[in-house]
Amino acid sequence: MRTHYCAEVNEEHIGQEITVAGWVASRRDHGGVIFIDLRDKDEVLQLVCDPADNADAHKIAEEVRDQFVLIAKGKVRARGEGLENPNLKTGKVEIVVDELIIENRSLPMPFDLGDEKVNEEIRLKYRYLELRSQKSYDIFKLRSKATIAARNSLDELDFLEVETPILTKSTPEGARDYLVPSRVHSGEFYALPQSPQLFKQLLMVSGFDRYFQIAKCFRDEDLRADRQPEFTQIDVEMSFCDQEDVIKVAEKLINDIFTQCGFSIPATFKRMTHNDAMEKYGSDKPDMRYDMAMVDVIDIFGRCDNEIFASIAKTPKKNRIKALKVPNGDNLFSKRQMKGFEDYVRKFGAQGLGYFQMKEDGLKGPLTKFFTEDDIQAIIDRCGLEVGDVVFFGAGEKKTVLDYMGRFRIYLAEIMEIIPEDVFEFLWVMDFPMFEVEDGRVKALHHPFTQPKSLDYEDIEEIESIAYDIVLNGTELGGGSIRIHKEDMQAEIFKLLGISEEEAQEKFGFLLDALKFGAPPHGGFALGLDRLIMLMTGTESIRDVIAFPKTQRAQCLLTQAPSSVDAEQLKELSLRIRQQAPTA
Ligand code: AMO
Repeated sequence: MRTHYCAEVNEEHIGQEITVAGWVASRRDHGGVIFIDLRDKDEVLQLVCDPADNADAHKIAEEVRDQFVLIAKGKVRARGEGLENPNLKTGKVEIVVDELIIENRSLPMPFDLGDEKVNEEIRLKYRYLELRSQKSYDIFKLRSKATIAARNSLDELDFLEVETPILTKSTPEGARDYLVPSRVHSGEFYALPQSPQLFKQLLMVSGFDRYFQIAKCFRDEDLRADRQPEFTQIDVEMSFCDQEDVIKVAEKLINDIFTQCGFSIPATFKRMTHNDAMEKYGSDKPDMRYDMAMVDVIDIFGRCDNEIFASIAKTPKKNRIKALKVPNGDNLFSKRQMKGFEDYVRKFGAQGLGYFQMKEDGLKGPLTKFFTEDDIQAIIDRCGLEVGDVVFFGAGEKKTVLDYMGRFRIYLAEIMEIIPEDVFEFLWVMDFPMFEVEDGRVKALHHPFTQPKSLDYEDIEEIESIAYDIVLNGTELGGGSIRIHKEDMQAEIFKLLGISEEEAQEKFGFLLDALKFGAPPHGGFALGLDRLIMLMTGTESIRDVIAFPKTQRAQCLLTQAPSSVDAEQLKELSLRIRQQAPTA
C-alpha cells in the first residue's frame, strides 16, 4: 500500500510523489491548513493538507482524529525556513497531500501513549496501544536483534537448535510448577517446564554434542521487578567440555549479542568465587559498577572490651563482624540519615549498626572507648581510613550480617548516587556451594544435576560445585554448571537431598536410566533473555521488554487470564472446583 516508510523520506525525495501509511500521532488545524503527524513503526512524517492545493484531501483531513489509520499520497517538499524539526529524521521535509484515505477510525485513546506515569493496569489492559509507542518499538527491535544475534553466534559454533516439550514433567529449579490437567488420563497432570534442563541433558546422551534453544520457561514464584511467571532463556548445553569451555562459549555469545546490538563490552569477564562475593559484598550477585567492599574485622573486635562484640568474635566460623567504609561519608550524611541507616538494617535482622568517623584528630565514635590504641590503628589500617571517611559495622550471625550489610551497601550506593549508568560490569561468580541447609532441610543451591567438586565433607554446606553464575550490574543474568553424568553420583546427590530411592525413580527415573546408557561428560548454561534486554535498554521493569506480560499477581489484564472455565470443560478433565470458605 505504501511506497516508503516514513523514516526513509528525506530531502533526496523532494519533488517525488510518494505514498505513506500509518497512524495519526497528532493533528493541528492552522486556520485552514491542516498539519498531520503521521507515524508508522518507527518515525513521524508531516503531512500538509492545504485547501488551496487539494480541497478534497483537506475535507477528509478535517474528519481525521488522533490514531486514525491513514494512507496518504502526495509530493515531498522542503519545509519552510525555520520550520524544520531537528528531532526527526524526516524533519526537513513534508508531504503536500493530494489523496488521503481514512483506512480506519479510532476511539479516543484510553491514555496518553507517551505518558509513562499512567497507571500500569490501564497500560496493560491496552498493551497493544502501549506497544504503538516509539519506546516500545525500539525495545522490541533490539530484542529481535539480540535473539537473531544469539542464534547466529551459536550456529557459528555448530550448536543445534532443538525444541523440547512444553507439556512435560516437573523439572526442579526451585519454584512451583504450573500444572496442566490431562483429559485422556484423568487425575493426571503435565507440568510446564521450569527450564529445559533435563531434556538438554538427554540430548547430550543422544550424542547431539551441542544444543541450544530460545526456550520459554514457566515458574510459579513470587514476582519481582525482574521476574515473570513465563519468561525466555537462551539455553545452551555441550558435551565433552569442562567449565572453561562453557565459559568461553558464554562469553562469545554475550559478546556477539552486545556487539550486534551496538554495545561494546570486554571479550572476557572478571571472576570471583561465591565465597568472596558473599564475604566482600554480602551477595551472590554483586554489582561491580562500584566497589565498597566489606572488610573482616572480627579478629580486632575479638580483642575489645565490649562483651557483646567479644562474645560474637568467639565463634568466627558461625559469626561475622564486617566493616563497610564510605569514603568522605562524614561530610555526606546528616545525623538523621545516620539514625535512618540503623532503622534500615534492623529491617533485615540487624541488632544495631555501629560506626566510626575518621576525624582530623583520629578515629571517633561511641565504640572507640572499647579498643586499645593499637587496635584503633589496626581498624584504620585494615579499612584504609582517611580523614572524612565513615566506617559502619555489622556484627552477629554470619548469614544475617552478610545479608543486611550487602543490602546496606547497595542502599548507600543508591542514595549517594555513585552507580554509573550506561556501563556494563559483567562478573562470573564461581564455585557455588552445592547445598544449603534451610530449617534443617538440605536444598540444592543450583539444581540437583550439578556436579560437586568432591563428596568428601565434614559440613555438607562446604561442598563446592562446578557451578557458575553470570552477573551483570548486580542482576543474575544467567547460570550454569558441569553436570553429573554418572548414575551412581546422581543417585547419591538425590539421597543427600533427602529424596528417597522410590521418589527419585518416580520423578527422575528416566534421567537415571539415561545416565546408564553412555552419558558423556557435559555442561551448559542459560541466560535470561528478558533480563538481558532489560539491562541493555535500561528499563526498570521486566514487563517493558515482554510483549504481553503478566502483572505482579500473575494476571494478563489484556486477555483476563487466568479465568474460570465452564462446567463442561471441568467435567471432561475430571476436575471439580472446591468452593473456598470466604477468608476473614
Ligand atoms: P536458572 O534457574 O538460574 O538456571 O535460570 C537461568 C536464568 O533465567 C532467568 N530467570 C528468570 N527470568 C525472568 N523471570 C523469572 N522468573 C526467571 N527465573 C530465572 C535468570 C536466570 O539467571 N537450567 C538452569 C540453567 C543451567 O544450569 O543450564 C536454569 O534454569 O536470568
